[in-house]
Amino acid sequence: MLKSVGIVGLGIYAPEKVMTNADWEKLVDTSDEWIRTRTGIQERRYAVEGQGTSDLAVEAAKNALKDAGMVPEDVEFIILATCTPDYRAQNASSLVQAKLGAVNAAAFDLSAACSGFIYALAVGKSMIQSGMYKNILVIAAESVSRLLNMKDRNTAILFGDGAAAAVLKEVEDGYGIISSFLGTEGVTDDILRINVGGTLHPVTHEAIDNGDVYLKMNGQEVFKFAVKALPKATKSALEAGNLTVEDLDLVIPHQANMRIIESAAKRLKLPMEMFYVNLQKYGNTSAASVGLALGEAVQEGKVKKGDMLALTGFGAGLTYGSLVLKWSK
Ligand code: COA
Repeated sequence: MLKSVGIVGLGIYAPEKVMTNADWEKLVDTSDEWIRTRTGIQERRYAVEGQGTSDLAVEAAKNALKDAGMVPEDVEFIILATCTPDYRAQNASSLVQAKLGAVNAAAFDLSAACSGFIYALAVGKSMIQSGMYKNILVIAAESVSRLLNMKDRNTAILFGDGAAAAVLKEVEDGYGIISSFLGTEGVTDDILRINVGGTLHPVTHEAIDNGDVYLKMNGQEVFKFAVKALPKATKSALEAGNLTVEDLDLVIPHQANMRIIESAAKRLKLPMEMFYVNLQKYGNTSAASVGLALGEAVQEGKVKKGDMLALTGFGAGLTYGSLVLKWSK
């Protein structure tokens, strides 16, 4: 029998700088009303000058370790889910290891965009079940604000920065991560990515002038994918655990757009009250989004021991995934 693996410590962090819809009205031709009705977002947080993704990650990690009753030296392995590392070529998880003082931990970055937290938890769980490690610090942290073209109202108004961390360990039998589903629908078109600055198209002056060094999104294509991916991933993870939507107490969806969550609720035939939503405060924080929502749901007392949760994400790639979790704390 495989060990049960679950979250024994959880921590979140959102940077202090608040960017409201009114702030966006000053930068581009948009309105608070348009953003609220099309997305549900009211404000987001941006990393302040001098703060990189690793700094957000470290704050969330400290909170998670405190919650787990651990010190940084106890950590055996760090997985950092991010698509916005501090530097190119050096993994941001190594910076986290150094800044946190997790001197005994090996570390790598996991790049699965907004599905990153789900992917990282699934990978971490199997590394513990294999007997390779006894604990894994899973972090999802993003500074998407640094990749935004502040003149592009189509893409930039959606995103924000944040971090979440979870300590994975063996838990009581029958609790923890019950089942998961990870999916990829790879696309070669530029549906959601930064076209320039990777190895295929290095940065040029022209690319900077054209704004090709910033995040660019085809909103409608992503929307079409998301409304199918969210219910499909959730159902597939439930099926993998021989469960159905009736077994769920709460769904923690990727916080991209209220309309996407409402559509998923309809397709899953679940009431909206079963979906935890905090996108109005943070916008889409990419990989951090599901963790940030889980952290706030726990802080607000919406999750109690024995509750069955579905954590579901989707994002660039296109990647998607879901994890069924029986809360063990
Ligand atoms: N303010 C005002 N108008 C805006 C705007 C903004 N911030 N952004 C776009 N518009 C305009 C468009 O230019 C367009 O104008 P036009 O009709 O004159 O061309 C109009 O609003 C409608 O645009 P459209 O793209 O059809 O809107 P939409 O209802 O599809 O909403 C998104 C746009 C981006 C909110 C929506 O497509 C979406 O949420 N997609 C998924 C994005 C996502 O989740 N990404 C992250 C995935 S991890």
